Amino acid sequence: MSSTPSSGTRLDPWFGAYAGRTHGLRVSETRALFSVANRPEVVSLAGGMPFLDALPMDLIAKVTADLIAAEGRVALQYGNGQGHPVLRGHITEVMAEEMIQAHPDDIVVTTGSQQALDLVTRIFVDPGDVVLAEAPSYVGALSVFKSYQAWVEHVPMDHHGLIPSALEETIKRLKQAGRRMKFLYTCPTFHNPAGVTLPVERRVEVLDICQRHGILVVEDNPYGMLGFDGQITPAIRSMDPDGVLYLGSFSKTLAPGYRTGWVAAPHAVREKLVLASEASILCPSHASQLSIAAYLESCDWRGQIGAYREVYRERCDTMLSSLAELMAECSWTTPAGGFYTWVTVPEGINTKSMLPRATTALVAYVSGTAFYADGQGSSQMRLSFCYPTPERIREGIKRLAGVIAKEMELVELFGPHGPGPVADVTNPAPDVA
Ligand SMILES: Cc1ncc(COP(=O)(O)O)c(C=O)c1O
Repeated sequence: MSSTPSSGTRLDPWFGAYAGRTHGLRVSETRALFSVANRPEVVSLAGGMPFLDALPMDLIAKVTADLIAAEGRVALQYGNGQGHPVLRGHITEVMAEEMIQAHPDDIVVTTGSQQALDLVTRIFVDPGDVVLAEAPSYVGALSVFKSYQAWVEHVPMDHHGLIPSALEETIKRLKQAGRRMKFLYTCPTFHNPAGVTLPVERRVEVLDICQRHGILVVEDNPYGMLGFDGQITPAIRSMDPDGVLYLGSFSKTLAPGYRTGWVAAPHAVREKLVLASEASILCPSHASQLSIAAYLESCDWRGQIGAYREVYRERCDTMLSSLAELMAECSWTTPAGGFYTWVTVPEGINTKSMLPRATTALVAYVSGTAFYADGQGSSQMRLSFCYPTPERIREGIKRLAGVIAKEMELVELFGPHGPGPVADVTNPAPDVA
């Protein structure tokens, strides 16, 4: 333990014993919100929870009960570190929907794609290494990068996703500065949080840039099958199996409670991932894997994903029309699938400092600042339409519009207020290595 007294030692006698990386950990803005946002009187436009009422619960209950009755001794036993071969076979069929050709051997089953993010970062990133990430990026990915003391370098996006020329410029600048870039993290389809999708031409360009500069692409794709019109954009992985690590998940297309995702990786990387996963969890849940395999075998999973799409399409329509009617002073993205839209508020409003006033008005969102490692995002917020009913979404936008109107009055009276640039940025000092 450190002998230097500090406020930390007074609160926690082990303060000085923690590893350096532990001090950078923060409660995520989304998690901090959860207790408030989950109160029934609050309309939460904050979380990314799938609407499980759209699932065929009776069927799932039967399939699970049959599995335990017939194969309980296997399903409730330890499994192997790479994941059950039967599920890995089914995963290749799921990925084929996104034009990815893979062999079951290429797949490593993980405890959600969150564990996949952790494993990929663990095997590639030393403290101070650069991870290139879209601006904005999924908050859970940023937390992982931070926990391994990566330096997150954001690459700008527009309404069509990552901007290839900006990626090239960023890579050249970092190369000139002698920085070590480990991978590009991207969520190209129905982006969390921005709601945008990278068109095929840009996917080709992004891949070409990364190939030329020898940078691995980590493609995180939990929402790819949730396009409102059923159209599927080919995954980047389908264009280059050797240069792309693909992260998939059953959380959004089926249910997050199974905590089952996967990585499709080139052979050598796959071996490292299995070793890292075994060191961390021994094996992913056998019961979850076999339940999902049984479900995929005996139920119309494509039809069930279609039912999800319908639910989310209607909710997205309601959100966009309510925004147009009630929050015309803001601008937002128009998602073609997924769970989220990204809203920019009028100048002078700070979405992070406004949040307590929004929750007092019984509506919750996630401030844009959660999705950047460098303090940007105070003019943005993520609104999710996946969970509340259309009526609740409309009510939520009405409440939010009231909060923003009051905020604009304050800005007019007193000028921009709030904390300004946020202090709790994710990036450690650049010389952390
Ligand atoms: C882009 C993205 N990646 C990964 C995850 C983690 O998903 P899970 O661990 O449930 O598979 C999420 C969850 O919201 C996400 O939005």
